[in-house]
Amino acid sequence: MTASYPALRLRRTRASQWSRRLHAETVLTPADLIWPLFVTEGQGVEEPIASLPGVSRWSLDGIVARAREAAALGIPCLALFPNTPSHLRTDDGREAMNPDNLMCRAIRAIKDAVPDIGVLTDVALDPYTTHGHDGLVDAAGYVVNDDTANALVEQALTQARAGSDVIAPSDMMDGRIGMIRAALEAEGFVNVQIMAYAAKYASAFYGPFRDAVNTRGLLKGDKRTYQMDHANAEEALREVALDLAEGADSVMVKPGLPYLDIIRRVKDEFRVPTFAYQVSGEYAMIETAVAAGAADRDAMVLETLMAFKRAGCSGVLTYHAAHAARLLNA
Ligand code: PBG
Repeated sequence: MTASYPALRLRRTRASQWSRRLHAETVLTPADLIWPLFVTEGQGVEEPIASLPGVSRWSLDGIVARAREAAALGIPCLALFPNTPSHLRTDDGREAMNPDNLMCRAIRAIKDAVPDIGVLTDVALDPYTTHGHDGLVDAAGYVVNDDTANALVEQALTQARAGSDVIAPSDMMDGRIGMIRAALEAEGFVNVQIMAYAAKYASAFYGPFRDAVNTRGLLKGDKRTYQMDHANAEEALREVALDLAEGADSVMVKPGLPYLDIIRRVKDEFRVPTFAYQVSGEYAMIETAVAAGAADRDAMVLETLMAFKRAGCSGVLTYHAAHAARLLNA
């Protein structure tokens, strides 16, 4: 009887750890991570968020401590989200344009203490409005585009003046990237970047985030007249094309893991810096699975983050950033 052999053994290069390392096509390092942080008023305050176990809101002193921790871990950038006190929330979200609001104070505190870490700031009105929408709402409850975009320009300038490095509009209004870029240039902020939440879907995965910034109870209706329909992929490419034409330096796809197909298509089509936001509901899915004894946190965190890199991402916004960086540095 003649022995038969596989023509090629793909298992050969997997047989030892040194060889698996040598053949790895993708790398994940702390430099690939952006850490989203929630800011709250006060001093010495840490408020755990029940639906995001392991994530807290921090007062400015705690935010500065997190910035130092991130720098020590090799994380290059933080993303900031304010929990605006309810008495400062209004129909028009005007607190977003207050140069002394929580967001601006957090930017300045981080930049003073840790000048070399990047600070990315979310542009959208939802943490500042009484209705929880990202923009201005008309009598019929519709989020109006052009007046909102003008307000977002003011919000973006307010953040840039406070020292934000990356303006990240998450509102999905039409035309706002070009308007913000023009306003930044006109004020001399030539090196302030724009990372556009270009393909942001109306998603069931944002629930814990809305607890974190206290908008869940406020939100009237849903965000489907401005955020994308999850049935659509071609439309995501049109969104990305527009944001790039208007001057975005990088684009984001959000949520993350359920939209890896979109990330890959964006990267193949445009070859631009592409980021993913592994959102709050994705984080909560992992943490609840871990709490139920159904998953290994460390393995799952590293596998999901590597998946984003494999799909073409330059980096990932993730609430697991510090934990992942610790694992990667070990
Ligand atoms: C709001 C905003 C949201 C997130 C980031 N910016 C929520 C929303 O669109 O309702 C979600 C992030 C997350 O779920 O982790 N402009």
